[in-house]
Amino acid sequence: MDKLIIRGQKRLKGEVTVSGAKNAALGVLPAALLLDDVCTIENVPDILDIKILKGIMESLGAGFEYIDKNTIRIDTSNVNSFIATCPDMHKLRGSYYLMGALLGRFKKAVVSFPGGCNLGVRPIDQHIKGFESLGAKVEIEHGLVKLSANKLVGTSIYLDVVSVGATINIMLAAIRAEGITTIENAAKEPHIVDIANFLNAMGANVKGAGTDIIRIRGVKNLRGDIVHSIIPDQIEAGTYMIAAAATRGDVLVKNVIPKHMESLTAKLLEMNVKVEEYDDSIRISAKDRLNKVNIKTLPYPGFPTDLQPPAAVLLLRADGTSTITEGIFENRFQYIEELKRMGASIRVEGRMAIIEGSSKLTGAPIKALDLRAGAACVIAGLIAEGETEISNVHYIDRGYENMVEKFQSLGAVITRTSD
Ligand code: EPZ
Repeated sequence: MDKLIIRGQKRLKGEVTVSGAKNAALGVLPAALLLDDVCTIENVPDILDIKILKGIMESLGAGFEYIDKNTIRIDTSNVNSFIATCPDMHKLRGSYYLMGALLGRFKKAVVSFPGGCNLGVRPIDQHIKGFESLGAKVEIEHGLVKLSANKLVGTSIYLDVVSVGATINIMLAAIRAEGITTIENAAKEPHIVDIANFLNAMGANVKGAGTDIIRIRGVKNLRGDIVHSIIPDQIEAGTYMIAAAATRGDVLVKNVIPKHMESLTAKLLEMNVKVEEYDDSIRISAKDRLNKVNIKTLPYPGFPTDLQPPAAVLLLRADGTSTITEGIFENRFQYIEELKRMGASIRVEGRMAIIEGSSKLTGAPIKALDLRAGAACVIAGLIAEGETEISNVHYIDRGYENMVEKFQSLGAVITRTSD
């Protein structure tokens, strides 16, 4: 059981380079299953979720060759199974994309229910509605989703909730369907555009990704031998931007798409943090007092729910009382109990956290309760007085490449220990 040990109160200073986007890679890799060929994916983050997904795809017959740490050549010509039910399926949320990808390829799929962070109830009814609208029969038995279709036929699907996962899954299933599929009230996150770009590079016909209406004209054949580079991780970038501001540091965050960061940038500016945008980097510096702000998490281009836990830590350093309203998940404030062990003054009322600024944090043993909760714990450790010990590090490994080394390079006193 590894732990992170952090000695806090060091201002972060220097440059950090963001890795490829976890949630884009978790869609792009399964999308390769629609091919019967090879493709090369660059800028794949070297994180636990990707290692687990690779193992699952290998069990279906996919071949993986690492060209370097972040470049993978995937051969899907020997994929011969539509059954993805190994225990690892429960270890991540992204395994749900095997439903759309295998249904799209084989017109049938048997896939375990996905796992992922415990953020309250996370239904997949919109995914199922989409598959059924395309003509698939869906049965749910013993924790398995069984999908089968004689043929998939394009149709119009209106999502009742804006869902990233359902948007991508329906897109995957519709790529080889007959005719035109439209997804209305689609999610608009940057990684949806990235996955659509990958699909189009292999010959799919997807238009409108990044808007709330996506139109997919089904194609019979796809071509391999393409190279695709995953976009930078918006949430990892935001984590370092917030950490820089929280430690009153001065950090150049490199390999970012500043447009993807607009909702966070706006809040940082409102807080009196200096934000300088360049072509593919953002410099954050925070010397002066920080203003309180109110944040509400929303689908993109709103403030991302995945940055809500790190943002709560930053607001502990502002003057006055700030609020965060969680607009996506029903239960994403569990990490606050861990912050309270360090002296944070935060009250939760339903979907709102009320955060008293200028709370003095002191180091304590705390637990990463999920991936982004873990990132919040690390930032709390970086600003706290004394030593913070964070357990459940495997959650952080799921989504952050070399987090310890990256913070060390910014001057943080952080180490990893194994019992
Ligand atoms: C994706 O989860 C991400 N996961 C999450 O990242 C991210 O927090 C979330 O999108 C929102 O941006 C991956 O990409 C693997 P949703 P997903 O479907 O697809 C409800 C991280 O830390 N809903 O957009 O599960 C749902 O309950 C993780 O990297 C339905 O009601 O999110 C939620 O309230 C955590 N029915 C809302 O929609 C459905 O069929 C949005 O969920 C689907 C979703």
